[in-house]
Amino acid sequence: MTTTFRFETDAAGIATITLDVPGKPVNLITPEFQEDLAAALEQIAADGSIRGVVITSARRDFMAGADLKDLATAHDRGMSADEAAGFSRALNQLYRRLETCGKPVAAAINGLALGGGLELALACHYRVLADAPKVVVGLPEVKVGLLPGAGGTQRLIRLAGIANALPLMVEGRHLPPAEALKLGIVHELAPPEQVVARARAWLATGPEPVAPWDRKGFRVPGGAGQQNPAVAQVFMAGNALVAKSTWRNFPAPVAILSAVYEGSQLPFDKALAVESKYFGKLLAGPVARNLMRTLFINKGLADSLARRPEGVPTSRVGRLGILGAGMMGAGIAYVSAQAGITVVLLDTTLEAAERGKGYSRRLLDKAMQRGKGTQAAADELLGRILTTTDYADLAGCDLVVEAVFEQRDLKAEVTARAEAVVPASCVVASNTSTLPITGLAQASKRPANFIGLHFFSPVDRMPLVEVIVGRRTAPGTLARALDYVAQLKKTPIVVNDSRGFYTSRVIGTFTSEGQAMLAEGIAPALIENAAKLAGFPVGPLAVSDEVTLELQWKITRQAEQDLGARFQRPVGHDVLETMIALGRLGRRQGGGYYDYPEGQPKRLWPGLASHWPVREEQPPAEDLVKRFLFIEALESVRCLDEGVITHPADADLGSILGIGYPAWTGGALSWIETVGLEAFVAECARLARSHGPRFRAPRSLKARAAAGTRFHPLPGAGRAA
Ligand code: NAI
Repeated sequence: MTTTFRFETDAAGIATITLDVPGKPVNLITPEFQEDLAAALEQIAADGSIRGVVITSARRDFMAGADLKDLATAHDRGMSADEAAGFSRALNQLYRRLETCGKPVAAAINGLALGGGLELALACHYRVLADAPKVVVGLPEVKVGLLPGAGGTQRLIRLAGIANALPLMVEGRHLPPAEALKLGIVHELAPPEQVVARARAWLATGPEPVAPWDRKGFRVPGGAGQQNPAVAQVFMAGNALVAKSTWRNFPAPVAILSAVYEGSQLPFDKALAVESKYFGKLLAGPVARNLMRTLFINKGLADSLARRPEGVPTSRVGRLGILGAGMMGAGIAYVSAQAGITVVLLDTTLEAAERGKGYSRRLLDKAMQRGKGTQAAADELLGRILTTTDYADLAGCDLVVEAVFEQRDLKAEVTARAEAVVPASCVVASNTSTLPITGLAQASKRPANFIGLHFFSPVDRMPLVEVIVGRRTAPGTLARALDYVAQLKKTPIVVNDSRGFYTSRVIGTFTSEGQAMLAEGIAPALIENAAKLAGFPVGPLAVSDEVTLELQWKITRQAEQDLGARFQRPVGHDVLETMIALGRLGRRQGGGYYDYPEGQPKRLWPGLASHWPVREEQPPAEDLVKRFLFIEALESVRCLDEGVITHPADADLGSILGIGYPAWTGGALSWIETVGLEAFVAECARLARSHGPRFRAPRSLKARAAAGTRFHPLPGAGRAA
């Protein structure tokens, strides 16, 4: 009796396996599925009346791959690379049994087939793929730090050739049906409702149940091995591209290259063993754990609104008001209209509001130039954005986002004017990046309805929204704000109010550290490159130019005024002051740490050397890498200690998705676990001795290290402390 698929045989001697894994949103490879398939294969092999097999799915999708929730815990359970390779060996054995069961097997791929799902199909002798708009196939394991470990690396190259197959696996790209057919990954396309019939038609031809690589004289299409110049070229280019795009921080693409290079020169079963060996190394390592835990499991939880207060009915924003049609207001208008929301975009002049709407028009035009979307759809979206200067148009709004200049008095004024018009139930959200929400809420007559929704620029591309709960924000307001973020299909993190909240506060330590390095006489190019080497998308000096030095300076001045004696001058602040005095205020103002010559790439401002002479002896880049990674992680611990962050996963997600903390670390708190708490604390002591007390480990972290309490719960250990 199988539980993960229906197994039926008919009078014609065709057995049909119809995948339907219970309790999962899509078909996934579970231990039960493996047992079921193993048993079914024995029956198929033994039963003389079975002449052929069709594998298909009862769901909309064929199969989505392995259950990452099982895999994500391997590292934390202390698995050795060899034990971890066992996952791959078991599947390889199972799929190999399918391939060599003596009966022809056809995959009727009725929908999406990814990872282990596609690998199942690749182990069949024939593949018919549904030709429908949303259907894709691919081996995206690299995105979670793994490689295709169920024969994918070896079968794909033997079907499509190394030159075609490698980039698909190294980039984890999904292919639409036509491309899959062209590359020889599937044999035939058919309308979804006909895939099973086509698979049966193939079986009716009486095909031999032998995979191409099990035939004598088989060669990898396009060749294999170092002696083949075309293939050698692919590996050379592949290595260079991987180094360029990952700075060698991600082990999976390198492991894929190795598994393919070695495996392509071996007999098939030995090749599978090589694949399993590399899979085990990846699964046992921390990077795969980091990527699976943060960007798959915890991101999934955040997207499904894990922090939403219970008992509040689900809401939808139908009409949204936006105050201020500048860079942020315009971006928020676009993503909201895209989600089907009617947007009232208000500014001080109609021209300014129209300029804000023009941003959506430009994005839509660009998309159409790339062949995405139609004029009719673009017009419909633009029709949802109403521009105005009249607050009366905000009547009937479910939510208002305030995105005027970063000035407390101005924000207070526009909030009061909006609240005079909107229904009493309306949520009012400020997009402030630095001003405490509780303070802004004082200008609101309904502070329980007031909340922070901190979007990131450019809004259409940045996936994160930092939701800031003020002291008087009601749980219902948080729930409704989260519902809106979900409507936009963005990822929310929920933080408590504080100066700079979580993300602005943490990225401030990164830019300050860069400025401190400059003051120490470290070469500006080394500072920037070290950050990239760590995996940050841009260096701290370039980030400062984007944010503008002027804004950084204003934020610090505001903090000084507000905090009085408690104010702590950020490290590197002298550098900022000098730059301001020199009129080097940032990119928008014509130049900061960089010059921005018209039509040319930006370049570091040569004047930096006269103010901060470059020391003769430069530190190794690894020291700088460490300083960047540690300083943000330490600030994240302080945010957790102060209750700004209430769940470690929010710090991990916020740091990666909002402010470019390197993804391979799993986020700022996961990085500490990656180093190991004790080792991290010891390194902090060393850094504090050489660079100052800002690197001292907080007491809470020392206590965690001593007690062995981690940020994220170990598998089976309940909740995190
Ligand atoms: P911006 O300067 O591009 O736009 C501000 C807009 O507000 C302008 O169009 C201005 O005409 C309008 N405005 C000013 N007074 C107004 C009033 N009385 N009524 C209606 N509209 C008025 O500024 P930006 O960059 O869009 O920032 C807006 C807010 O978003 C600020 O609080 C900022 O701190 C925050 N923020 C900015 C980010 C960024 O990367 N620029 C990121 C996240 C938040």
